[in-house]
Amino acid sequence: MGVLGLGTMGSGIAQTALESGIEVFAVELNDELLSKGAARVKDGLERRVRSGKLSSGKSSSLLSSLSLSTDISSFRNCDIIVEAVFENAETKSSALASIGRIAGEGTIVASNTSSISITLLSKGLKYPGNFIGMHFFNPVPVMKLLELVRGYLTTNETVEKAKSIGEKMGKEVVEVRDYPGFVSNRVLMPMINEAAFALMEGIARKEDIDRVMKLGMNHPMGPLELADFIGVDVCLDIMNVLYSGFKDPKYRPCPLLVNMVNAGRTGRKSGEGFYKY
Ligand code: 3HC
Repeated sequence: MGVLGLGTMGSGIAQTALESGIEVFAVELNDELLSKGAARVKDGLERRVRSGKLSSGKSSSLLSSLSLSTDISSFRNCDIIVEAVFENAETKSSALASIGRIAGEGTIVASNTSSISITLLSKGLKYPGNFIGMHFFNPVPVMKLLELVRGYLTTNETVEKAKSIGEKMGKEVVEVRDYPGFVSNRVLMPMINEAAFALMEGIARKEDIDRVMKLGMNHPMGPLELADFIGVDVCLDIMNVLYSGFKDPKYRPCPLLVNMVNAGRTGRKSGEGFYKY
């Protein structure tokens, strides 16, 4: 498996693939990002060792199946290449164009996009039938779901191959069609957005909004805590994708999310979102 981009999602995908016995070729833009990404994979495996799920010997041998490079041509012999770069349509399209120059007719090319249309991203690819969305969830080694997104041109063969790779990675695979937000974010993000409205309107304190959903619905995290975990900016971007994709006012982003993003309060990664870290 080739993995382009070793950020939070890419390193989680790489770690999960390694743990399932898949050899991984990871590519990043430069050496600094590559070593940061490799450290994330190593930390993830060490976490598994600490929780007794992996021996330290096994963890080192898995790491030896990880090849690191800044040269995309190292994907040359991969059966599947997963793009996990920054969530922006232009960035993803240009990353996919580079992958497209390496990937042969028999190679599956997948994007881990959380909201960008797979059909849109397939534009310009030589083999759009081989292209599919593989939407993993954070933290990838822990979350059971793989949302497989079938673009307008994705072939049945590609769906079947991607499904079997996902299952090999220990995921429960759910196939969905390519409409804004797919299923996961079409359902999740309006909930987070509505929680932000409830806070903005002063209906309850942030801690209490989260407690309602944790204690009443058995969610592991409340919606505001989860927004911080995902990134408030990511949540806002996805609400905008739903709003512009469906042209339906029910998806209008909460102005509090807009203010928070403009203020740089994007959640855990910035040290503050709804909560301080
Ligand atoms: N990376 C790897 N493993 C992690 C982890 C991380 N960042 N965080 C926690 N874990 C592991 C722990 O090691 C532990 O494993 P173990 O059972 O083998 O010891 C297990 O997860 C449970 O962790 P903890 O006991 O430390 O903590 P919690 O029980 O509170 O669980 C959580 C942490 C798994 C993050 C849990 O709070 C949770 O499930 N939260 C919801 C996460 C969620 O909804 N993710 C999806 C976000 S949406 C998305 O990704 C899609 C995008 O398109 C927006």
